Amino acid sequence: MSLCEPDLNGLSRSCRIGELSIKHCGQEVVLCGWVHRRRELGALVMIDLRDHYGVVQINLQKDLHNKDVTRESVIQVTGRVMERPQQAKRDHVGGDIEVAADRIVLLSRCDSAQLPFLFDAQVDTKEELRLKYRYLDLRHPQRQQFFRLRSHAAHRIRSFLHTRDFLEIETPILYKPTPEGARDYLIPSRLHPGCVYALPQSPQMLKQLLMISGFDRYYQITKCFRDEDLRSDRQPEFTQVDMEASFVTEQAIYELSRQLCCEFFEDSQLTMPCLSYQNSMRYFGTDKPDLRYGLPAVDVSEVFRGLEFPPVKAMTSSQVTDMTAFGVFVSESIQSYSRKGLDEVVAQVMSTRPASSQNCVYYAKDNGQQLQGGMAKWLSSSDRDIFHANRRQCYADVAKLITHNCPSLDEGQVGTWFFIVHLHQKVCYECVDVLRRHLHPLFLTPHITPKVALAWVHSFPLFETDESSQKLSSAHHPFTMPHEDDMELLMSLHPENMTAGCSLVSQSYDVVCNGFELASGSMRIHEHHVQRKVFELLGLSPQQISEQFGFFLESLSYGAPPHGGIAFGFDRMMMLLAGCENLRDVIAFPKTTSASCLMSSAPHMVADVQLKAYGLRHTHPQS
Ligand code: AMO
Repeated sequence: MSLCEPDLNGLSRSCRIGELSIKHCGQEVVLCGWVHRRRELGALVMIDLRDHYGVVQINLQKDLHNKDVTRESVIQVTGRVMERPQQAKRDHVGGDIEVAADRIVLLSRCDSAQLPFLFDAQVDTKEELRLKYRYLDLRHPQRQQFFRLRSHAAHRIRSFLHTRDFLEIETPILYKPTPEGARDYLIPSRLHPGCVYALPQSPQMLKQLLMISGFDRYYQITKCFRDEDLRSDRQPEFTQVDMEASFVTEQAIYELSRQLCCEFFEDSQLTMPCLSYQNSMRYFGTDKPDLRYGLPAVDVSEVFRGLEFPPVKAMTSSQVTDMTAFGVFVSESIQSYSRKGLDEVVAQVMSTRPASSQNCVYYAKDNGQQLQGGMAKWLSSSDRDIFHANRRQCYADVAKLITHNCPSLDEGQVGTWFFIVHLHQKVCYECVDVLRRHLHPLFLTPHITPKVALAWVHSFPLFETDESSQKLSSAHHPFTMPHEDDMELLMSLHPENMTAGCSLVSQSYDVVCNGFELASGSMRIHEHHVQRKVFELLGLSPQQISEQFGFFLESLSYGAPPHGGIAFGFDRMMMLLAGCENLRDVIAFPKTTSASCLMSSAPHMVADVQLKAYGLRHTHPQS
């Protein structure tokens, strides 16, 4: 049967709208779709008919027209494909043809007067309304395009991993807590009153158990659930491309991840520069550096420690050695600042700090010979020389990471220095990060800046201090292998020795893309005594270890292969691929920042009688 033969063979259409082209002129077709637009011209009614694949104009005589064929109604049209007059041809696919209809069947009427919004008006439509009527929002051709992109990308990833012998294995959703740093979503069990399942924050322990089972290479595109504060790049329910492999090194996971990114972004030339966590913080103030541009922070602490500048003097009089100062230099060829412009940058960085914290951002302009304005009068010409010498060294280091043409590595000395000075290094890093992100639009140059800039950030700390409990907590998760050079120290540590604990380095890594953490992983502990020691250092009692991780710990005593893995945030990957700014755009039915679904009103209150079956009752009166 030819494409457009109206013998429908059980289908309600002979072809999809997007498949129609000039070569079908003269053929009779049966089409189905939504009434995108409708106009009347004398005795003629013109309908733009839309399906998932495209839009075509339908012409019909007024006397054939049914007034119930309103906008967004679903209709079936039978007619003949015609070439449009030259002057009426449009630019989109199928814009050079139209269909002269001789029959229209109304399949489902849209009460268009009640439609909450129309696609054309969408720019002005509030997101809350679009989320409440997500099924209408998703009718927009661009949104549909995102999900086609998503489906194809998932397909590319699956076939990439299959050709590398990774097996797709599903793991349970009703499970036990897996510590990934967020709160769990708990599901009460009817058969075990008082007991709960936890929805997995990730399949971390399960994928390790698959390695212990001998599966060698596993992957899964799977849902993860985390009850945590939400942001534009976080959803309570999200999708990971989760992988694990036995008998591999970090280098093998690096190469696999790089190749997977090449496949995903359809760019075989992508490079992934490696930088340690320490260097990432030192140069960019963050472990998620956006390497599409340079703009590194130059360490100028040695100059600032000796300054008479009153805010610095006040700081250093108490703790000289702890003060950190960074300078970020914006060359005049990129931006020349007015006094107002400078104050705005300072205010912007400071606005991300709590209102009570003192100013820690200063500036001085460099005219090529000397520093002027702002805090310049506190700086000498030899200070200026040190800044530029440090800058040259810093830029040379960073140029090894940023392999593309990067205007911020410009060598000129005319421009503006922004200085960030604080007693706490952590605050300095945060401000450097905010400053770089604030300035970054200056450095994104069309045709020069790459669309995708990857980084492999490695050697994160094994532990950090949990500020609320003042105990050690895992920087990644407790299954992360310590660096081999630190193994001896680890085995000799006591949980109270927080300083030494925080100095331990782990075999963990992140894939960063354009300033977003795209993936995270590590080599895993595969020896029982090391895993037990890590649990102990995290402050878990023998009873807690046995209750929470007993089954897992036991598995390590029955022959576990050395293994490692990584998990990519698939929604984040899609956000970058589609060029969106919010994960919600690439998730079909996303949640709001308060973790609710505006369409279905989930989560919802549950009646006492339903709770009773689980052995639960409300302690707060229902509103
Ligand atoms: P991690 O917790 O870093 O590691 O998660 C891996 C990746 O998942 C994505 N991601 C999220 N995406 C959307 N919303 C969220 N709330 C969210 N949280 C995380 C990020 C992140 O890089 N089991 C380990 C991986 C491993 O060690 O193999 C894990 O889950 O892109």
